[in-house]
Amino acid sequence: MGKLRSQEWFGRKDRDGFVYRSWMKNQGWPNDLFEGKPVIGICNTWSELTPCNGHFRELAECVKRGVWESGGFPLEFPVMSLGESLLRPTAMLFRNLASMDVEESIRGNPLDGVVLLTGCDKTTSSLILGAASCDLPTIGLSGGPMLNGKFQGQELGSGTDLWRLTELHRAGVLPDSQLFEAESCMNRSKGHCMTMGTASTMATMVEALGLALPGNAAIPAADSRRNRQAHLTGRRIVEMVNEDLRMSKVLTRAAFENAIFTNAAVGGSTNAVIHLIALAGRIGVPLNLNDWDRLGSELPCLVDIQPSGKHLMEDFFYAGGVEAVLRELGMAGVLHRDALTVTGHSIWENVEAAPCWDRNLIYTFAEPFKASAGIAVLRGNLAPDGAVIKPSAATPELLKHRGRAVVFDNIEDFGRRIDDDSLDIDETCVMVLRNCGPKGYPGMAEVGNMPLPPKILKRGITDMVRISDARMSGTAYGTVLLHCAPEAAAGGPLALVCTGDWITLDVAARKIHLEVDDAALEERRKQWKPLPLPERGWARLYVERVLQANQGADFDFLVGSSGSGVPRDSH
Ligand code: FES
Repeated sequence: MGKLRSQEWFGRKDRDGFVYRSWMKNQGWPNDLFEGKPVIGICNTWSELTPCNGHFRELAECVKRGVWESGGFPLEFPVMSLGESLLRPTAMLFRNLASMDVEESIRGNPLDGVVLLTGCDKTTSSLILGAASCDLPTIGLSGGPMLNGKFQGQELGSGTDLWRLTELHRAGVLPDSQLFEAESCMNRSKGHCMTMGTASTMATMVEALGLALPGNAAIPAADSRRNRQAHLTGRRIVEMVNEDLRMSKVLTRAAFENAIFTNAAVGGSTNAVIHLIALAGRIGVPLNLNDWDRLGSELPCLVDIQPSGKHLMEDFFYAGGVEAVLRELGMAGVLHRDALTVTGHSIWENVEAAPCWDRNLIYTFAEPFKASAGIAVLRGNLAPDGAVIKPSAATPELLKHRGRAVVFDNIEDFGRRIDDDSLDIDETCVMVLRNCGPKGYPGMAEVGNMPLPPKILKRGITDMVRISDARMSGTAYGTVLLHCAPEAAAGGPLALVCTGDWITLDVAARKIHLEVDDAALEERRKQWKPLPLPERGWARLYVERVLQANQGADFDFLVGSSGSGVPRDSH
C-alpha cells in the first residue's frame, strides 16, 4: 500500500498538520487514528425531506462497524439529498448540483475511500457522478426498496399503482376515501420505491456496473440483511483502499455494456439512459444512445416486475435478485464475465453460483418474460438526435401507430385543457407535450407520461401514444416516447408541431416522423421564439450550461474528471 491520501492532511508536523488533527480531536478521536489508518468517508444522503433515505443514519452506523473492524477510520458527511417525492419543480434540476457537492466534498477532505449511501432516484445518480469525477476507491450501498404495498388484499406498487389509482379516481371509479386509504397502504415501510422504477433500476445498474457488493439492489430496506450488507460494505471499502481499487478500474466500457444488458433484462427505467451516459462522460468511457439500442433493445426482459410486469422488489429479492439475472445473462453469453467489480473479483465470479428460486418471476433467457424488451432509440424529423421508448411497458398494438397530433405547449397548458370534455381528442390521437426538456422545464421533469383525458379513461381506454421532450418516472408505463432531442426549448423540431399535424410512430423501424415537409417546417421556425432565461441563481446556470438528453443532461463543464489531487492548503 502506498502513502495514504489522508496523510497529506494528518501525517504532517507543520502548522497545517496541527490544524487538521487538532480540530478533529474536538470530537474525541484518539491520536493513533491519525497515524495512517485509511479514512473512509460515508457520503450520506439522509434527510427527513427524502423519505426513501430516512433510515440512512442507521445504515451509516452499520457501515462504520465494518470500517472499524477492518482497521479504517470512518467519517460520515452529508451532501445535498434529492427526494423525488417532495422536491419541486423536479429533483432532476438539482442532480448536477448535488453531484458537484459530492465531488468537491470528497476532493476537499482527507478521504482515502468513500461509501456512497444511495436510495431515492437522484441520490444514486448524483453521488456516482460526483464520485466518478474524483476517482477514489468507492463503493455504492443502496438503502433498499420498501416492502410490498398491500391494499384491499392486493399488491400495490409505489408509483406504478399511483398512476393507475389516480386515473381510476379521475374516471370517477375510485372514491376519495379509498384513494386516501391507499396512501397508507402503498408506502408502509422504510426504503425507496419497490417497483422497478428509477431507484431500483439505478441500484441494479450500480450492481451490474460492479460498483456495489452483490445484493445491493434487491434486499428490502426493512430486512436485517440490508444492515449486514452495510456492515460488509464497510469492511470491503477498507480493503479496496489497501488495493487501490479506484472507480476507473471498475467503470470500464465492459461494465457499462453489462449495465445496458441488465437494464433490458430487468425492464429498467428510461432514466438510466440519461444517468449512465452522464456517468460515462465523467469517467471517460465513450457511450451514446446508439449503444443502448444496439446492445440492449433486442434483449429479452427476464423479470416479471412492475411497471413491465406484476411483481415487486421484495418478491424479486426472494427469487434471487440481480445476481440471478446476471447469472442468466452470463449463461446466455450476454455478459462481459471478466469485468472487475468492487469485490476484487470478476462479475462472473460473483454470480456464477447464484440461485433462482422462482421461475415465475425471474425467467430464463431461452424462455423470457418478454422478448425484445430493451430500450429502443427512435430518430426522425421530430427527434434528429434521438428519443427513447420502453417497449416492455408499452401497449404492443400502439408500437406502430399513425395519429393526429394534439399539442400542449407546456405542462400548465396541459393542466388547463386535459380535463375539458370539449378538447378535440380521441384515443387515436398522438398527445404531444413540449418545453419540458432539460432547458425548457427547466430540469426535464417526469411529466412525459401525460394522464389521458377523462372522457377517454371513462371508456376504459388506458393508453395512447404520447411524445415529449420530458422524462417519465421509472415506475410509469404506457406508449410514451421520451427525451426528444434536441428539445423544443433548444429549438428542436418538437417546437414546430401544430395540433392537427399527422405523426407516425414505428418502433420496429426506429422511426418517428412528423408528416410536414421541410419547407413548411422552415416557415414555422421563423415564428418560433426562445423561452426567456431564468433571471438568476441555479436555474439560470442550469439552463445556460445543461447538455441535451442524448448527452446525459450533464453540464458541459462537468464532463470529465478532475481527479483527487488538491495541491494547496487553506491557511
Ligand atoms: Fe424515492 Fe420513488 S420517491 S424512489
